[in-house]
Amino acid sequence: MATPESSAPAPSGRAAVVRQDLDNVLHPAVAHRQLEAEPMVIVEGHGSTVVDADGTEYLDAMAGLWCVNIGYGRTELADVAAAQMRALPYYPHTAMNAPAAALAERVNGLLGGDNHVYFVASGSEANEAGFKLARQYTKHESPGRYRYKTISRYLGYHGTTLATLAAGGMGDRKTKFEPLGGNDFVHVAPPYCYRCPFGLTYPSCELACAKNVEATIQGEGPDTVATVLVEPIMSAVGVAVPPDEYLPEVAAIAKKYGCLLHVDEVINGFGRTGKMFAHQHYGVRPDIVAIAKGLVSAYLPIAATVVRNDVFKSFVGEPSENRQVFQISTYGGHPVAAAVANRNVEILLEERLAERSAENGAYLLDGLRTLARHPWVGDVRGKGLFAGVELVRDRATKEAIPPERVKGVVDFARRNGVIVGRSGGGRHLGSTIVLSPPLIITRPEIDRVVAVLDKAIAEMGSLLGPS
Ligand SMILES: Cc1ncc(COP(=O)(O)O)c(C=O)c1O
Repeated sequence: MATPESSAPAPSGRAAVVRQDLDNVLHPAVAHRQLEAEPMVIVEGHGSTVVDADGTEYLDAMAGLWCVNIGYGRTELADVAAAQMRALPYYPHTAMNAPAAALAERVNGLLGGDNHVYFVASGSEANEAGFKLARQYTKHESPGRYRYKTISRYLGYHGTTLATLAAGGMGDRKTKFEPLGGNDFVHVAPPYCYRCPFGLTYPSCELACAKNVEATIQGEGPDTVATVLVEPIMSAVGVAVPPDEYLPEVAAIAKKYGCLLHVDEVINGFGRTGKMFAHQHYGVRPDIVAIAKGLVSAYLPIAATVVRNDVFKSFVGEPSENRQVFQISTYGGHPVAAAVANRNVEILLEERLAERSAENGAYLLDGLRTLARHPWVGDVRGKGLFAGVELVRDRATKEAIPPERVKGVVDFARRNGVIVGRSGGGRHLGSTIVLSPPLIITRPEIDRVVAVLDKAIAEMGSLLGPS
């Protein structure tokens, strides 16, 4: 065990890294016994491939954690970072810096041009700042009638801080940390059509899930609701693509009751779904947009909360008016991260990666649909390079596959050189294989992902035995 005085020597071999890690690191999300049994030590990446220190190559069909949109190995970003670091490594964003100003202008332009951008360092912080900006805004704009609640969906994920967890609707991720505060996050049914919470079928459902938003706002008292928070295509539940009318209807309901529409584009954004931002498929104009991941393809940590100018105006005033944003994040507007993000977004635009995501996403979906030859494939869905394959024991009853078998599919794929993900844990919620590859993935690579999944699902089925 390292002590504060010891300075551990840089280990050279893989085994030394594994030892050093196991003795010193507390990892997120993964069981430590699994890390001991099957350690991965990723040392380099290029394109859609990452390489372990033992030389094993993996086709990363998850783009890391749904984030390396432009792919690995763009060394020009290292040059951009080095140049900015030499010029100015850091200064707090109470002052201005050129890379952050340029990035804000670029992001503002991509989101319609009437916004201002508040920088933070992670997607969780971007959503959390969204809640706080909305609350401060309503304090300014409707004194005496303070709106503070956020309406969000069950099965959603919006981050890992206590407030974003409370906004999320994934019981299994929350229970170890509860209670999570008061009544300020209220949940509604998600547009998860394969397992409609109302037991209905589209279109005869008449969008009961959207109507649930209106009923909930009415039930809570519209004067208490600050925001309606949606991730246009819900990631964590296994890429749930809503009916086309869902988001416009929710946006109209939010507007009708004077609530701000807060859209979480942390995963959906920057080309993932085949447009620069997923809400652009549905023709809505959000008041608040949280962005992260693809903003910088995770080459450095930077994220942002983008607010429409109607909201921004509320924060403009003399020092004596106390209208300014009442929080600061040390790393917000970090010049090095902003410079790298700028170049990242330029690459996304130059290489038309959103369009490529739409085209190759359709190709991926066609490939995944062939997996329906296995009786355990209940649903195949997606938009852009963002897809889910939901596994069931029985198509008619939609009985869930045991989680260890779904994990077996992921493990089988990895042992065969392809990294895929799975939906958030627990009961049937963990039974969708998810794919979110770098937007530069090639068609032969997509074929390989589908072929490996085909084998993995066949193997899983043979292990399941008769139902
Ligand atoms: C939809 C969504 N919102 C927010 C977050 C939180 O982002 P971060 O992990 O950067 O805090 C995530 C993380 O995966 C996410 O999937």
